[in-house]
Amino acid sequence: MKPASLSLLSIVGGLVIALSSFQGDASEDATEHEASAHVPDAPHVRAPLNINLVIDEGTWLRAPGEEWFAAQAELDLERYSYDEDLGDEGGWKDARGAFELRYDEEEEEYAYWQWISAAQLTRGRQDFVQYCSSCHGFEGDGYGRSGQHLRPAPRSFLQKNFKFAKVISTLPSDAALMRLVKRGLAGTPMLPWDLSDEQLYDILQYIKSLSPPGEGWRDIFTEIGEVVESGEDPWQSDAKGALKRGELVYHEVASCYLCHPGYVTPTNLAALRGEDAGTKYRDNLTLPVLKESSYEVLGRPTKILPPDFTWHQMRAGTSTLDLFETIAAGIKGTAMPQWKDALSDRDIWALAHYVKGLIKKYKDQPTKRAAFMGGLRQGQ
Ligand code: HEC
Ligand code: HEC
Repeated sequence: MKPASLSLLSIVGGLVIALSSFQGDASEDATEHEASAHVPDAPHVRAPLNINLVIDEGTWLRAPGEEWFAAQAELDLERYSYDEDLGDEGGWKDARGAFELRYDEEEEEYAYWQWISAAQLTRGRQDFVQYCSSCHGFEGDGYGRSGQHLRPAPRSFLQKNFKFAKVISTLPSDAALMRLVKRGLAGTPMLPWDLSDEQLYDILQYIKSLSPPGEGWRDIFTEIGEVVESGEDPWQSDAKGALKRGELVYHEVASCYLCHPGYVTPTNLAALRGEDAGTKYRDNLTLPVLKESSYEVLGRPTKILPPDFTWHQMRAGTSTLDLFETIAAGIKGTAMPQWKDALSDRDIWALAHYVKGLIKKYKDQPTKRAAFMGGLRQGQ
C-alpha cells in the first residue's frame, strides 16, 4: 500500500470498515480500489461521493472601479498602469492580465472585469464544500443540511445582498468580504474563520461566481466598494456630549426607536421630540418591532428582529468604529437603513457612542438592565 493511499484510507477509515463489513467477502484490495475510485483528493473526503468538485472553465466577474486600481497602482507600480487609449476615455491596465476593461456589446458600456481561472475556482469550490457547505449548501443556495433550521438562515450566494460588509456600494470588495468572514457574525452560527488568506480568497471567488447571469458579480452595472469611510471620531474628548447628542439623534432626528426599542420614557420622548406631553407612541416602546426583509427561505420572506442593544448580540462588532460603520452603511436587504449622507458623520459617531454606552452599561448585566427597562416600562 502506498503512503498516499494509506493516509487517504486512514481518513476514510470509518467508511472503509463499514463497506467491508457490509460486503462481507470483499477483499481489502477491492475495497481500497472502490474507495479511491470515487473519493477525490483528501481532505475533501467528507463530501458525498457524487458531488462535483472540479470546475472546468474559468469565468469573468465584475471588478472594482478606477479608485481601486489607483490604490493598487500605488502598491504595485509595475503591475497596474493607466492607458489613455483604453475604453472611451482611458482606463487601467493589468500587466498580468487578470483585470480587464471590457466592452459589453449589448449594453454598449465599458466595465472592469476580473478573470478567475478554472484552477482557482476548483480550489475555492473544494474548500467551500469542506468548510462552508454544511450550512450554505453544496451549491451555495443556503440549504445546507446543518443550515435547514438556522435563523438567521445561512446566506444564499445566488442572491446579491450582503448584510454586514459595511459598504455603501451594491457589493463588497474582496477585502471587505474577507474581513467579514474572518470576523464572523457574533450571535449567529457564522463563526470567525481562521483559514489562510489564499484559501479564503479562492473561496470568495467561488462564492462570487455563483451569481446568476446578469446579476451580482455578473452584472455590468454593479458597483463594488470598500468599507464605508469613518474619518476621525469627533467626540474623542467629549464622551458626555456624544451620549447626549446620540440620545437626541436616536429618539428625535433619526427615530431609531420606531424599530429598535426606545430607551426613554414616553414623557421624555415627547420632551426630546418637542411634542405634547401626552403624545401617544407605539405600544411596547421598550421592545423592538419585527420587520420584513428581502431574505427568503424556500421562497418565503423571513422577518428580522432589530436588536435591543441592552440585550442582543451585535453581529458586526461593538467598538464605536464598528458601530459607526454599521450604522453608516446600513444592513442591506433588511429594514435597517443606510444613514451615511442622511445624517452627518458627526451625528453617526454620536449614535455609535450612544449605542456603545447602552451595550456597556446593560448588556450581560441582567439586574441593572431589569431595573433600567422596568423603570422605562413603568413610566409608560
Ligand atoms: C454553521 C453554519 C455556517 C457555516 C459552516 C458557515 N456559515 Fe456563513 N453564514 C451562516 C449564517 C447563519 C449566516 C447568516 C447570518 C445573518 O444573516 O445574520 C452566514 C452568512 C455568511 C455570509 C454573508 C454575510 C453577510 O453580511 O450577509 C458570508 C459571506 C458567509 N456566511 C461566508 C461563509 C464562508 C466563506 C464559510 C466557510 C468558510 C461559511 N460562511 C461557513 C452560517 C454558516
Ligand atoms: C426601519 C427599521 C429600522 C430603523 C429605523 C433602524 N434600524 Fe437598526 N436595525 C434594523 C434591523 C431589522 C436590524 C437587524 C438586521 C439583521 O440583523 O439582519 C437592525 C440592526 C441594527 C444594528 C445592529 C448591527 C449588528 O452588528 O448586529 C445597529 C447597531 C442598528 N441597527 C442601529 C440603528 C440606529 C442607530 C438607528 C437610527 C439611526 C437604526 N438602527 C434605525 C431596523 C432598523
